Amino acid sequence: MLVLGIETTCDETAAAVVERQSDGRGRILSNIVRSQTEEHAPFGGVVPEIAARAHVEMLDGIVASAMQQAGIGFAQLSGVAAAAGPGLIGGVIVGLTTAKAIALVHDTPLIAINHLEAHALTPRLTDALEFPYCLFLASGGHTQIVAVLGVGNYVRLGTTVDDAMGEAFDKIAKMLGLPYPGGPQVERAAAAGDPARFAFPRPMLGRADANFSLSGLKTAVRNEASRLTPLQPQDINDLCAGFQAAVLDSTADRLGVGLRLFHERFGAPRALVAAGGVAANQAIRGALREVAAKARTTLMIPPPALCTDNGAMIAWAGAERLALGLTDTMEFAPRARWLLDANITTPDKFANTRAGF
Ligand code: KG4
Ligand code: ZN
Repeated sequence: MLVLGIETTCDETAAAVVERQSDGRGRILSNIVRSQTEEHAPFGGVVPEIAARAHVEMLDGIVASAMQQAGIGFAQLSGVAAAAGPGLIGGVIVGLTTAKAIALVHDTPLIAINHLEAHALTPRLTDALEFPYCLFLASGGHTQIVAVLGVGNYVRLGTTVDDAMGEAFDKIAKMLGLPYPGGPQVERAAAAGDPARFAFPRPMLGRADANFSLSGLKTAVRNEASRLTPLQPQDINDLCAGFQAAVLDSTADRLGVGLRLFHERFGAPRALVAAGGVAANQAIRGALREVAAKARTTLMIPPPALCTDNGAMIAWAGAERLALGLTDTMEFAPRARWLLDANITTPDKFANTRAGF
């Protein structure tokens, strides 16, 4: 089956066509992502209004390119999938409405996808990974440890109680005068810094739950930075190195607990999967490798283009659902918030507050 996928929940406008073969394996026919980084950079973070407008302007052209690159017509589609949340509501409306229009005009099923579910199912597209497995998702809007047990069957084992991890990297960069997006900048500065110069707190270390917290660490960095102002380049490097070292220790500890909880509840996971922009960080990858080895499981990180937001993951999640007969109606409403597992009552967090917006 062939599925078109549309992603517009944050600052990437993306569309892709993915094939799900009869043996359940996936193949990407096209995958087009247009990042809005340039539009948002002057503001130091994603501006929801600018994002929504850019999605409106870009999406039709990107869908057309994805179809053209895949070499198929709309009539050949088995379905059209769009990320229907969680995310910045303006963008979600643009993507879902476009998908509905295509579904109506071409009389093909609509599949409304939870953006987090799409991240969660990606290793089945890239590596045909079998359930169950443990997902660590760390992006600008989300920080979660999720037990992925089946299509539509997810249990959140841990989440951030304040900032998302990528958001914390972006805020640290902003406070130190580094450009947006901050994650790669902080990583680069940290590589030239001394992680031991500042004794920053290791948030949540040793706690029995698998939750994350990053705002206390962020405040500690801010206090140190204002004490040192005016900052010299070496101060910035050392502050970044200290921050990143604290994030690494905290991540290793939290994931260790998350994997233990996974074992207790669901047995051995087939892999620890990392996704989201933060998984691009080499130091974090190193920490994840150690955590996985300690828990005697394999670490799997999809290629960077499929770790960050993209249309292929939405198309694939659509194909997985479609194969199970799960489709949605034209009444499906866009959702700013949408928990991956309906049983959890803790409020989820999304990035509309990120970088001050
Ligand atoms: O998954 P993603 O591309 O998009 C969404 O958040 O939707 O993640 C982007 C986030 C940003 O906050 C960015 O600063 C962070 O991932 N990031 C990194 C690195 N590369 C991107 N954080 C730390 N180290 C990196 N190398
Ligand atoms: Zn994402």
